[in-house]
Amino acid sequence: MNLSNMEGPIVSLGLMSGTSLDGIDAAVIETDGEIVTDIGPSLSIPYPDEFRAWLKAAVERAAQSNSLTADATLIRELTSLHIVCINKLLDGEEEGGKWKRPKIIGFHGHTTLHRPELRITQQIGDPIQMANETLIPVVSDFRTLDVKEGGQGAPLAPVFHASMLRSKSRPVVIVNIGGISNITWIGPDPNDVIAFDTGPGNGLMDAWIEQTTGKRFDEDGQLSAQGIVDQSVLDTLLDHSYFKLKYPKSLDRSDFSINALEGMSPSDGAATLLAFTVNSIVAGLKLCPNPPEALYVTGGGRHNLTLMSQLSVACPCQVHPIEDEGWNGDMIEAQAFAFMAVRSLRNLPLTFTNTTGARSPISGGKLSYPAG
Ligand SMILES: Nc1ncnc2c1ncn2[C@@H]1O[C@H](COP(=O)(O)OP(=O)(O)OP(=O)(O)O)[C@@H](O)[C@H]1O
Ligand SMILES: [Mg+2]
Repeated sequence: MNLSNMEGPIVSLGLMSGTSLDGIDAAVIETDGEIVTDIGPSLSIPYPDEFRAWLKAAVERAAQSNSLTADATLIRELTSLHIVCINKLLDGEEEGGKWKRPKIIGFHGHTTLHRPELRITQQIGDPIQMANETLIPVVSDFRTLDVKEGGQGAPLAPVFHASMLRSKSRPVVIVNIGGISNITWIGPDPNDVIAFDTGPGNGLMDAWIEQTTGKRFDEDGQLSAQGIVDQSVLDTLLDHSYFKLKYPKSLDRSDFSINALEGMSPSDGAATLLAFTVNSIVAGLKLCPNPPEALYVTGGGRHNLTLMSQLSVACPCQVHPIEDEGWNGDMIEAQAFAFMAVRSLRNLPLTFTNTTGARSPISGGKLSYPAG
């Protein structure tokens, strides 16, 4: 079967391993790479605690040494966990039941190092193992070509955001609050798309909550709601050179730290970090050509009620969860990689000058077929 010659919409399964180290998202869509013709089931599985600690240690080692992760056992185990997630999804173990079998998989892998200024970006995972064990061709390595061509290699989801947007009141901004936060600004002309990482998302807050309370995250924002923002600590955090840069720009999860919060109570620290996330998103909006008519929030951060209400107060426009546009905000990244797998097959661009800073619109991704 030569996928490159297939025309029309095809069923594609996308996989995302979040920078928050929360687990794997898998989602099926049908698309021709230009528009989404149908949305299938989706599923998330959390990483087992032991595996999460292993992966976290690898990511931290990579950040400290600026070197690539080559632990073959870790890469194999990460891929096997993705395959478990695929099989559960295809067996119908999710809401929506069984669906059409995917013809292609978009496998993002887990980012262990992202240093575009050094022309380095690494997402680990073994596409050949995945293709052989699922018998489905796999597109992987979505970011390398962009970085090689002078781009930031991130964010990649904007091309999917722009294709899915229905809202007529533009400009509009989609903000993904994952481990870090990134925005996609879509202008009055829907082909006018700007995107960049704005700053922290949930990653710093999660690290603080884990360190001070032993919990994984601030559920519904309850702890941060009780805290008081320390303005001088917040000012220190916001005095980072990243916020003075123009787009395109992107971040590695290790670019910010919780060191400035030493000695603070868990709730005051959580409130201050939450304000840091909100302020950096608002600073990002100011870099865009025009203020948006509306802001749609996707990613795990939209479950944090304190974050959502603080964002509403701070933003110059209405703030909505992305569900108000009819999307599933927990699955957009996975759906985006399903979409990009098909674009990659058809050699359509994944990245643009105003999304990653690539010299010209370019495609990317590497196709691996099952053996035989
Ligand atoms: N009920 C909730 N209350 C507060 N925060 C929540 C809740 N549910 C999820 N979150 C936050 O969302 C995070 C996960 O978000 P998400 O899945 O978008 O991150 P991610 O997979 O790392 O994404 P990305 O790769 O885009 O950075 C959790 O670590 C947590 O901080
Ligand atoms: Mg996630």
